[in-house]
Amino acid sequence: MRAVAEAHPNIALAKYWGKAAGPANAPAVPSLSVTLAGLTTITEVELDPSLQADVLLLNGREADATRVTSLLDRARAHAGIRTKARVVTTNDFPTSAGLASSASGFAALAVAARAALGLPFDPARASDLARRTSASSARSLYGGFVELDAGDGTDRDLPAREVAPASHLDLRVLVAVTTEAEKDESSTSGMNLTAAKSPYYAAWLEHAPTWYREVRRSLLARDFEALGVAAEQSALAMHASAIAAGIVYFRGATVEALAEVRRLRRAGTLAFATIDAGPHVKVLVRAPDEDAVAAAMSAVPGVLRVLRAQPGPGASLREPR
Ligand code: DP6
Repeated sequence: MRAVAEAHPNIALAKYWGKAAGPANAPAVPSLSVTLAGLTTITEVELDPSLQADVLLLNGREADATRVTSLLDRARAHAGIRTKARVVTTNDFPTSAGLASSASGFAALAVAARAALGLPFDPARASDLARRTSASSARSLYGGFVELDAGDGTDRDLPAREVAPASHLDLRVLVAVTTEAEKDESSTSGMNLTAAKSPYYAAWLEHAPTWYREVRRSLLARDFEALGVAAEQSALAMHASAIAAGIVYFRGATVEALAEVRRLRRAGTLAFATIDAGPHVKVLVRAPDEDAVAAAMSAVPGVLRVLRAQPGPGASLREPR
């Protein structure tokens, strides 16, 4: 009746942007991400027969439960239980930190919801469940480097899977935070508008699988430079397709931070940028370069602070308090 789970955000090195045709929120392109240690979402699900509707408390405040209910409804149908739930979820990192709390949030929710409904811990099933509500969250079920295939237009199960463990590559992710404001366009609506309006969406769909394959190959070969080049291309092409539809996530400081990453590279440091559906710049570096690159990024005009993260574990159950 009650279960608690924890999960961590992930950052895509090869981006998911756009949905496949079909009913099940499957991605139009394959993606590959790294799950991050340190930053944690903790979610408790308690079934309560006295509730008429699901209730969501997000960081201590009641919040819109629509997407939470969509996930819970699927889990309830699977378990043959109709009881509504109280969901209490907290992030130990600010939602405006530039790290999608939705990925860790729906991953933790999928694990806790299944457990509260008496279903066994099963990362693949939880990943498929999470994916149907928010596709990037499917990847946070697993630790280290994780991939999610594109959909094939059917309703078949589509969980993410681990490509390599966290220890595989000595990678660090530095998040150059450029604003405290929440983002203005959600990823869901940003990608749907891109698909509907961008003349470059077809080009994105055509080329994204190539960058994904290159990210995967270079990751497995531990070729950090090739990995960084492909990851930066994937992110910039995703944004180019979005910008052509009028969806601009960049702010001035985003462009300044991107320029600093390129300046560092010209000066001989292997640093690469990736940017999600928001204005913050995530810099991929190797561990020995972390301090120098963090200092350089902190000095960029408009960068408010720099967070540091590294590859970490997948989602798990915790003892209820
Ligand atoms: C830019 O997973 O948030 O972070 O499936 O509609 O919930 P929905 O979208 P979401 O999109 C994430 C987009 C991205 C790239 C990525 O994480 O691969």
